[in-house]
Amino acid sequence: MTTPIDPTTTSAWRQLAGLHDGFALDLRQAFADDPGRADRFTHTAGELFVDLSKNLVDDTVLSALLALAEQVGLPARREAMFSGAKINVTEDRAVLHTALRDPADEQVDLDGENVVPLVHEELGKMYAFARKVRNGEWVGVTGKRISTVVNIGIGGSDLGPVMVYEALKPYVQEGLSARFVSNIDPSDVYEKTVDLDPETTLFIVASKTFTTLETLTNARLARTWLLDRLRTADAIDKGDEAAGKAVALHFVAVSTALDKVSAFGIDPANAFGFWDWVGGRYSVDSVIGTSVAVAVGPENFADFLAGMHAIDVHFRTAPPEQNVPLQMGLLNVWYNNFFGAATHAVLPYAQYLHRFPAYLQQLTMESNGKRVRYDGSPVTTETGEVFWGEPGTNGQHAFYQLIHQGTRLIPADFVAVATPARPLVDGEHDVHELFLANFFAQTKALAFGKTAEEVRAEGTAEAIVPARVFPGNRPTTSIMAPALTPSVVGQLIALYEHITFTEGVVWGIDSFDQWGVELGKQLALQIAPAVAGDADVLAEQDPSTRSLVSYYREHRER
Ligand code: F6P
Repeated sequence: MTTPIDPTTTSAWRQLAGLHDGFALDLRQAFADDPGRADRFTHTAGELFVDLSKNLVDDTVLSALLALAEQVGLPARREAMFSGAKINVTEDRAVLHTALRDPADEQVDLDGENVVPLVHEELGKMYAFARKVRNGEWVGVTGKRISTVVNIGIGGSDLGPVMVYEALKPYVQEGLSARFVSNIDPSDVYEKTVDLDPETTLFIVASKTFTTLETLTNARLARTWLLDRLRTADAIDKGDEAAGKAVALHFVAVSTALDKVSAFGIDPANAFGFWDWVGGRYSVDSVIGTSVAVAVGPENFADFLAGMHAIDVHFRTAPPEQNVPLQMGLLNVWYNNFFGAATHAVLPYAQYLHRFPAYLQQLTMESNGKRVRYDGSPVTTETGEVFWGEPGTNGQHAFYQLIHQGTRLIPADFVAVATPARPLVDGEHDVHELFLANFFAQTKALAFGKTAEEVRAEGTAEAIVPARVFPGNRPTTSIMAPALTPSVVGQLIALYEHITFTEGVVWGIDSFDQWGVELGKQLALQIAPAVAGDADVLAEQDPSTRSLVSYYREHRER
C-alpha cells in the first residue's frame, strides 16, 4: 500500500499557512481594485456557471491551492479512480461510479474485464422494466396498472433516489408517483402505505448488501401489508400460491447480492444488479435509481447519466485553472484547514432541490468524516466539514442571521436555475424573478456587508448602529444552470462527488469506506434483547444504557 503524502509537509501548505497569517483580503476592495475579478473567477463545467469570485481568494492563494493538489499527487489519484485501481483500500475495492455513466463505447477494465457493457446491460433491464410499468404492460395481481412505486432503502439506497425524484418532479409521468420508506421507525412505513391501494402499488427493495436491518424489516412489513390488504379485499385467496404470485408482481429488488434477493422471496428475474465497486452514496446512477427511472422514464434517466458524465470529463480533463470541482474542493480545504471553518452550507434556490442538502450530508460526511488515512496512520489535519442547508428563501428566515452576523465563518454554496419549471406570476411580478433577486441579494450582502457609516447614513440611532452593521467578507460560491433538467441534476451530483474526492485526496483518507457506521449497528443488535425484556442482557449493559432501557420498559404502553 502506498503512503499518502502528508499535505502539511508540502511547500504549498507552508505557503498557504503564510498567506493565511495576516490574510487581509477584503471583498469590497478586491472587487473595486479589479473590475475583471468576477470574470476571472467564474468558470463553466458542463452547463453549470460557477462564480467563485466571492470567495476569500486571490491569484496567489489560488495558485498555492492548485500547487497543493499537485504536491499531494491528486492528478495520479484521480486517474487511478477513473481507471479502476483499488483505491478503496480498506475494503479492497475499485471506485468506479464514474463507469456507471460512461457511454456504451467506453472501456474501463477491472480485473481483466470491461465493466461498461455490464453497466449497460443492467441499465437496459432497468429501462425495459421502467417502460413496462409506465405503459401499463406491467400489472399487479388483479390486473390493474401500477400507479405508485415505493422505494424501500436507506442511506445511499434512499437519499439519492428521493433527492433526484423530488428534483425531477416536473418530469414524472402523469398517473405515476413514487414514495420512499427508509426509517425503521414503524411510523414511516405506516404513513407511506396507509392510503395506498395494494393492487396498484409496486415495492422496490433497494439495498446494496441486502442485509441492512432497516430495509429488510421494512420490506417484510410491506410484504405483510400487501398480502393482508389484498386478502382483506378478497383480491387474492389465502393460499401460498396466490401470495407468491402477488409478491412476484408487486416486489422487485435492486442489489449487489442477488442470492439474498431470492432468499427473501423476490423472483431473481425481477432483480437488477450492480457491483461492489459502486459505493452506496455513489449509487443513484446505478439501478438503485430504478424508482427514478420508472417515474421520469428511461430517456430522462439517460440524460441524467449524460449530465454526470459531462462533469466527469470536465474533472478529468479540464486544466486546473478552469477545473471547477478541483477548485471548489481546494477552497473547502482552504476554509476548513486554514480558517477553521467547521461547517459548509449548501443553499438551493430551487424548491425542487429541497433534499439536496440531505443527500450531500451522506455524500460528504460519510466519505470524508475520517480520522485515519488510507494507510491506517492518523490524519495530519482536520478533515470533513459538516454539510447542511435548506432551500432559500426558507433558510433566510431561519439561520442566515448567523451566517451574516455571527462569529463563525460559514462558507456557503448558492444554487439556482434561470428558467423555473413552474413560472407563476403575482400580478405584474414574475415570482421566479423575486426569488432570484433574493439569491443575488444574499450573496451580495454576505460579500460586501454594510458599514457603520452606511448604517448611520440611514438615520439609525447610534446605540443600535453596531447591531445593524454587516461585516461582509463572508465567502460564497454561486452555481447557476439554465434549468433543473435531468442533465443538470446529474451535473450537480457529479460536481459534489468530485469536490468530495478532491478534499479526501488532500487529506490522504479513503473517501470510499464507512466503518464509522458499524459499531452502532452491532450494538443495536446486542441491546435489542434487553429492550425486548431479557434481564440478563440488560444486566450486562452500562448504567446509563440500563437506566434508559428500563425507562422504556416501564413507560411503554401496548
Ligand atoms: O449506513 C451505512 C450504509 O452502508 C451506507 O453506506 C449505505 O448507503 C446504507 O448503509 C445502506 O446500505 P445498503 O444499500 O446495503 O442497504
